[in-house]
Amino acid sequence: MNNQRTRIVVLASGKGSNLQAIIDQIKTGSLNVEIAAVVSDVEDAFALSRAEKEKIPREFVNPKNFPDRQAYDDELVRIVRHYRPHLLVLAGFMRILTKSFVDQFESRIINIHPSLLPKYKGLNTHQRVLDANEKFHGATVHFVVPELDAGPVIVQAEVEVKSDDTSLSLQNRVHSCEHVIYPMAIQWYSENRLEIFDRKVLLDGKESPDQFIQCYSNGNSCGNCCQMY
Ligand code: GRF
Repeated sequence: MNNQRTRIVVLASGKGSNLQAIIDQIKTGSLNVEIAAVVSDVEDAFALSRAEKEKIPREFVNPKNFPDRQAYDDELVRIVRHYRPHLLVLAGFMRILTKSFVDQFESRIINIHPSLLPKYKGLNTHQRVLDANEKFHGATVHFVVPELDAGPVIVQAEVEVKSDDTSLSLQNRVHSCEHVIYPMAIQWYSENRLEIFDRKVLLDGKESPDQFIQCYSNGNSCGNCCQMY
């Protein structure tokens, strides 16, 4: 990246709390990247309002204007390329990207998913975890490959499922972990510390314990995840 500050484009469809965590960490100086743009497929996504407030360029790409996913993604590629990002950050972007989109940014797209992948791919993860009586749950940051939620894992945060948890309480706790591990993963990327080897992500050349964080009520913490206990 030639000492140039890493430029990211964030794609978001919803509330944008992960976007906000990224913005906040940039402001504190612990995340040294520039958000070149925020792109959404939802016109009134709160993520776009957050971008506006920070004077970050923002784009709404309306799915209704395109006949199919391929046409939409072709336009998305054009818009994203305009901002010359080093990295694409999916932060609650609720569309499945086409293979051709993913291939164009190979190893340069990351996503955050609210489960301990490979468990609980797809939607409704918190309720499914409760229904299955799981003891643990969490969040995963991973590189994006064409197959949904299947790319190499960069970092995970694990939380305990408590007996009185509801889908909402679990979601809140997992979310607070997401806000720690997503900026962390982006910073690692920007420092060129990540490499994909044999479908695994290495940190500083090895599989590191830093890539699996346990946020438990017994005092283990990823920073502020355990504030939720
Ligand atoms: C998060 O739970 C993330 O794991 C998932 O979508 C949600 C986005 O939340 N991919 P927010 O819009 O960042 O608040």
